[in-house]
Amino acid sequence: MQEVLTLIEQKKQEYAQLPLFNFMRDKTINHRQRLAWAPCAAHFIMNFAELNKYFLRVEPTNDPIQRLINKHTYEDDHHWLWFLEDMKNLELDKSLKFSEALKFLWGEETKNARWLNYQLYRYTSQATPIQKIIVIEVTEATGNIMFSATAEICKEVKVITEKPCRYFADFHLDVETGHITGASGIEGILQHIQLSEVTRQEAFELVENLFTVFTQFTSDLLVYAETHEIEQKLKAA
Ligand SMILES: [Fe+2]
Repeated sequence: MQEVLTLIEQKKQEYAQLPLFNFMRDKTINHRQRLAWAPCAAHFIMNFAELNKYFLRVEPTNDPIQRLINKHTYEDDHHWLWFLEDMKNLELDKSLKFSEALKFLWGEETKNARWLNYQLYRYTSQATPIQKIIVIEVTEATGNIMFSATAEICKEVKVITEKPCRYFADFHLDVETGHITGASGIEGILQHIQLSEVTRQEAFELVENLFTVFTQFTSDLLVYAETHEIEQKLKAA
């Protein structure tokens, strides 16, 4: 299992090199424009709660790893509320007709956000606790890179508007404890799990596939931010 965790760490470093993160660090671009991709991520962010509730969580359970996963799902199943709050505070909460909102959420430019959800459902549906841990670890790894970048922008926004963000800010980064495997005792347990050759190969493949869909999703966010100019006025609180 340790080799799988090492691969996740390697892929995380590669993920951190994606152009979206350079774009978000580029202070020559307006801070809100650097977060202009947020609506494009809505499908994924809003569905994340249900991934936790309906796919990752299994109750009751006698499996110690599943028990840990269950605990994790209660932490991560309501963060979408903070996303809605941030959309308001960042003034990205524009009005749309219901039909237009549906077209946007199921449209071409947001298709990789949906595809990411479908793949996460696929890999967690009737999965073993180990497979679920891998999904959680990859999600946390990509989330950690993403929120580290957004949190810096939120600091700039707060100075200007005095409106604190939560989903995209340090607040979120701080409650995500980093790794489920960092939870007491579990790291040692996971590291010492011996996977069969077949299971290890499947785990490697799962990690690769997950990073591929996260990368497609992240690349689309950049395309969206670069092609959707936001209104630049931002009201002070
Ligand atoms: Fe979260």
